[in-house]
Amino acid sequence: MTTTAPTRRYLMCRPTHFAVTYRINPWMDPTAPYDTALAVSQWENLRQTFLDLGHTVDLIEGLPGLPDMVFAANGATVVDGKVLAVQFRDAERADEAPAYAAWFAGNGFEVFESKHTNEGEGDILLAGDVLLAGTGFRTSHAAHAQTQEVFGRPVITLQLVDPAYYHLDTALCVLDERNIAYLPSAFSPGSQAVLRRLFPDAVIATPADAEVLGLNAVSDGRTVVLPVQATALTAALQAAGYATIGVDVSELRKAGGGPKCCTLEVRA
Ligand code: ARG
Repeated sequence: MTTTAPTRRYLMCRPTHFAVTYRINPWMDPTAPYDTALAVSQWENLRQTFLDLGHTVDLIEGLPGLPDMVFAANGATVVDGKVLAVQFRDAERADEAPAYAAWFAGNGFEVFESKHTNEGEGDILLAGDVLLAGTGFRTSHAAHAQTQEVFGRPVITLQLVDPAYYHLDTALCVLDERNIAYLPSAFSPGSQAVLRRLFPDAVIATPADAEVLGLNAVSDGRTVVLPVQATALTAALQAAGYATIGVDVSELRKAGGGPKCCTLEVRA
């Protein structure tokens, strides 16, 4: 458990234009039904959960034709008031990058242009003083090097190996400045060894937790907001001393996203 003051600032995007019309990860089935209104109400509940915890939530306007823009975590990486913009792997999401960069520039942040494929906080997570960075499916290794240069913080590269857990934030959750939760099998053997070395007391998730995107959780250091379906992980987190709040964002899971995907932390 941590003593970190739990007030956080998040950027979110209401899923007004949410849809599943293409397939860029194994969760997405463009032939399956989806319910945009339900996605919006589930998202509103997530936002209200953050507000009830005392956090600040800024909003960026979703754009028509960008159904994945609700996944704000992919919009940037923001540490120490600096913003590293993103560059998506897939053409379907490309136009989200300038929209997020413009929001940060318009709100007075220094924005660094991304030189490589970089899907922001989907793959780059601050853990204490260091950044954990996933690669293998989306964010490139070259982007990790740029991330280290921009923020002047050590970046630890982690190899993702399971296509279902294509972004780091689907396989690993930072709980506080000292600890994480993760699914070992989502990582290469070498990366598993790195995680064991850095986080010997980590909360180990079960495959069933990961299959409901349970690791796609948002922690303020004290309370972990996670998918309500992740029952074993919820119990493990409570046993480790964290408070938990279960939220249902099952409609957004049809696009391969959970609570954390909807939430970009703005560290001023
Ligand atoms: N459909 C989106 C994609 O595949 C989901 C992004 C989820 N975001 C995240 N931070 N994991 O790009």
